[in-house]
Amino acid sequence: MKILVLNGPNLNMLGIREPGIYGHETYEDLISMIEEHCNDKGIDVKCLQSNHEGDLVDYIQQAYFDKVDGIVINPGAYTHTSVALLDALKAVSIPAVEVHISKVNERESFRQISYVSYYCEKTITGKGLRGYIEAIDHLADGK
Ligand code: DQA
Repeated sequence: MKILVLNGPNLNMLGIREPGIYGHETYEDLISMIEEHCNDKGIDVKCLQSNHEGDLVDYIQQAYFDKVDGIVINPGAYTHTSVALLDALKAVSIPAVEVHISKVNERESFRQISYVSYYCEKTITGKGLRGYIEAIDHLADGK
């Protein structure tokens, strides 16, 4: 089982950015937690982050050629603006789960739309970094 974990803009700033909302753990903490979990489960995981929309589109397209089985995606602010990310997910047709660290549904009105949610089979919000683990388990075990 091959999983790609994709993080969008400003998620590299975890631990620094708005800790009241996103917590004190860093992006490196997140990646260690994911790698440890996937190692235990025998999942081949790759974690990528970019602040650039086109890079994220390229990574999703590359997942098709790399025969990735599942994508966990937190598109950051591109969640609320990017039809290109939605189209990229549709293009590769790889099962995907959307993750948001914060409770987006309880935040500003501009955060209430998610384009990728039109494609993703599940959306996990407000569970902090554990949401990524839940997303991986969903893709790996179907739960
Ligand atoms: C986020 C929520 C988005 O609204 C925000 O732009 C982010 C992070 C989250 O993980 O809660 O960058 O996706």
